[in-house]
Amino acid sequence: MKSIVIYSSLTGNTKQVAEAITSVLPADTPCVSMKELPSDLSSYDLVFAGFWVDKGTANKEARDVLGTLDNSHIALFATAGVPPQMAHAKESLINAANCLPHGIEPVGTFICQGKVDPKVIEMMYKM
Ligand SMILES: Cc1cc2nc3c(=O)[nH]c(=O)nc-3n(C[C@H](O)[C@H](O)[C@H](O)COP(=O)(O)O)c2cc1C
Repeated sequence: MKSIVIYSSLTGNTKQVAEAITSVLPADTPCVSMKELPSDLSSYDLVFAGFWVDKGTANKEARDVLGTLDNSHIALFATAGVPPQMAHAKESLINAANCLPHGIEPVGTFICQGKVDPKVIEMMYKM
């Protein structure tokens, strides 16, 4: 099965998870930022797509890419400010899965807590 890992990351947390996933896949598996996506992903049987949680869903760059994926197997991974057991984390994965084209369900999902800049925590509390 031919796989690729793609990710969107602002401060590096999701990139770290992307690299960890890639490290246990066959050695020739590409790991690319969504800013440098190959124009055609259709030759991949399995796409691991990573995003950071922004206001309870995938960040905008990732949402735009998720909406274009039509591969047979798509696994979503994410990092968030909250721990994975919180409802907000699970809801964020569901909201992101809803960004996939109609009828496509992820074959698997993973979310973990990333390091959060204290300035972001302050901003989130104000919101
Ligand atoms: C503008 C902004 C909005 C965020 N919104 C959320 C949120 O709704 N829920 C949450 O759990 N974390 C939120 N976070 C925290 C990030 O999802 C978290 O720090 C993530 O690990 C960042 O990933 P990155 O290092 O790959 O950019 C937000 C961060 C930023 C900067």
